[in-house]
Amino acid sequence: MNTLSTAPTLDALIREIDRYHLTPGWIPRAKPLLWPEMQSAFVPAHWRYADARSGMQAAGRLIGTDLAERRNFVMRNPIPGNDTATLRTLICAYQSILPGEKARSHRHASHALRVILEAQGAFSVVDGVKHPMESGDIVLTPGGCWHGHGHDGDEQAFWFDGLDVPLTHLLEPMFFDEHPQGFEPVLQEDLRSPNRFAWKDTLQAVSEAEIDPWFGGTVQLPAPLMPTIQLTVHGWPAGWRNRPFRHSANTILVVMKGQGRSVIGDHCFDWQFGDTLAVPAWTRIAHESHDDSVMFAMSDEQLMRWSRYYRFEALDGDPV
Ligand SMILES: [Fe+2]
Repeated sequence: MNTLSTAPTLDALIREIDRYHLTPGWIPRAKPLLWPEMQSAFVPAHWRYADARSGMQAAGRLIGTDLAERRNFVMRNPIPGNDTATLRTLICAYQSILPGEKARSHRHASHALRVILEAQGAFSVVDGVKHPMESGDIVLTPGGCWHGHGHDGDEQAFWFDGLDVPLTHLLEPMFFDEHPQGFEPVLQEDLRSPNRFAWKDTLQAVSEAEIDPWFGGTVQLPAPLMPTIQLTVHGWPAGWRNRPFRHSANTILVVMKGQGRSVIGDHCFDWQFGDTLAVPAWTRIAHESHDDSVMFAMSDEQLMRWSRYYRFEALDGDPV
């Protein structure tokens, strides 16, 4: 029999009820349950491919083939205490493989994709299907699919990796298996696989896309087996400026072609080929393209829409 109903004072009740792992809702908390406007704990950030590429050249020299599948640099958002997540739901990295190497096959809960920055002769084996990884290609490895990489070319290959690992951590369904045969055998090659978007097809689709004032030309890349990540490619003609906006999607941008400047919140970033930008949700976004540019975007927009959390707001002011 508890003594809660006879607690003599409010202080005594608060003290007593804590033993039952119950907390009173009328007491102020260090972090409140509700607040008036969307806000992200993450900050706008920019990673230069040229820097990461130099680091990967050194890592290629200093790290053996036995760790080839982990020879990458994770783009951690520079907020205190964070050494992994790029944004709340997404993580990305630059990765590299040397000629003749094989990165062992594995599978995990998280959905993943690759944007190939520089490669000739590299390939990814996804559930037994060999996918070429040539410069500009985008290759998907939906959660639960075996995947490993190889390289039959002559030059070190570089790509961008994007995954929803922080979301998997939050929801807690993570698993990871190494392939029992080490490197998964190739059963077939499929140049028309739904898990690969070839660069020439992407360029063609972008050139035909209608220009939207906020996002530019937009091509949706269908990825029905990885519904937590929305994939788009945007075409921004030389001199194009968007109308500034903010929305509730966390977005990572990768420069596939061109150069320009983006003002994300109060950060100004000059970007060029291979660079990555992190755009936290509900941050003002203004772009200016200095060249004919193609941007890859991965975001949690469709997750936000599915949850009915999605909001979009057009903003006034100069673009950049
Ligand atoms: Fe993986």
